[in-house]
Amino acid sequence: MEKKNIDWGNIGFGYMEADYRYVSYYKDGKWDDGALVTDPNITLNECACVFQYAQTVFEGLKAYTTQDGHIVCFRPDLNASRMIDSAERLVMPPFPEDRFLDAVKQVVKANAAWVPPFGSGASLYIRPYLMGINSVIGVKPADEYMFRILVTPVGPYFKGGAKPITIKVSDYDRAAPHGTGDIKAGLNYAMSLRPIVKAHEEGFAENMYLDAATRTKVEETGGANFIFITKDGTLVTPKSNSILPSITRRSIMVVAEKYLGMKVEHREVYFDELADFAECGLCGTAAVISPVGKINDHGKEICFPAGMEEMGPYTKKLYDTLTGIQMGTIEAPEGWIYTIE
Ligand SMILES: Cc1ncc(COP(=O)(O)O)c(C=O)c1O
Repeated sequence: MEKKNIDWGNIGFGYMEADYRYVSYYKDGKWDDGALVTDPNITLNECACVFQYAQTVFEGLKAYTTQDGHIVCFRPDLNASRMIDSAERLVMPPFPEDRFLDAVKQVVKANAAWVPPFGSGASLYIRPYLMGINSVIGVKPADEYMFRILVTPVGPYFKGGAKPITIKVSDYDRAAPHGTGDIKAGLNYAMSLRPIVKAHEEGFAENMYLDAATRTKVEETGGANFIFITKDGTLVTPKSNSILPSITRRSIMVVAEKYLGMKVEHREVYFDELADFAECGLCGTAAVISPVGKINDHGKEICFPAGMEEMGPYTKKLYDTLTGIQMGTIEAPEGWIYTIE
């Protein structure tokens, strides 16, 4: 497969229109067979539930080229099941897991020319999404739905690649106190737009959200979970039912324990504890593992000993092992790698 003529090493995290997208419609209580289409545009009724009441959920995963030239995805079954959880929360019909995996395979295969080569630092971002499409004016769920997958090649999420970033404690709550951050739904992310714009204007890469009820516990950022390393090398990662259950974070917990022999703690993390940690990072499909050097709490700085020049030693080991597993240079646990072709 001839690759597109793109400077793969220099692309950022943006949208490029690939050749194919996958579409399936839900009507009269069932999903149709689905198909690949070429038109990137969607035409919907003005009163579609997605426009009026934001009835839409999405997922995010990546396809990689491995060292031996295969195209693979990392644990897409977990994206399928998380999307089912998100859909249930917004009263939408689940898109079945086997259909999800087949759709990912079809759309990535059809766009193989857009999958960045091994070693380029880029990958193919895959964005499945689901929305209510028929007209509703009273507040209620739609009866008809569209499931789609778009793909686009992407580079690093944060400018500067692996350099540590500075983030701020958000002035806003992302989730309501009763919690809605644990689903990947459009509404959650719309609520994070104002804080992210403000953070960028002030020169920060991201926001640290605290729990909305007490503002004493660390939750997550706008697009990634947190990992912390204690001075004696334990991985600590926040537990909360109002953060997205990151697939990357769940995988890192396994990598830390099983590959690196680290102690792992998944527990509530209080903001007051942060100054005691040696390293801090953000983890997610887009962020991979991005080191955090500094957190600004309304003018007061928390600086991690690992510093602003490079990743701390434990973060680096986690990063190398995780990306090695994803790119096929380190043997993966059973079932983690889904081969597309
Ligand atoms: C709010 C939020 N938290 C965490 C994550 C990381 O999740 P994952 O590792 O499954 O990509 C994401 C990724 O999209 C996210 O948007």
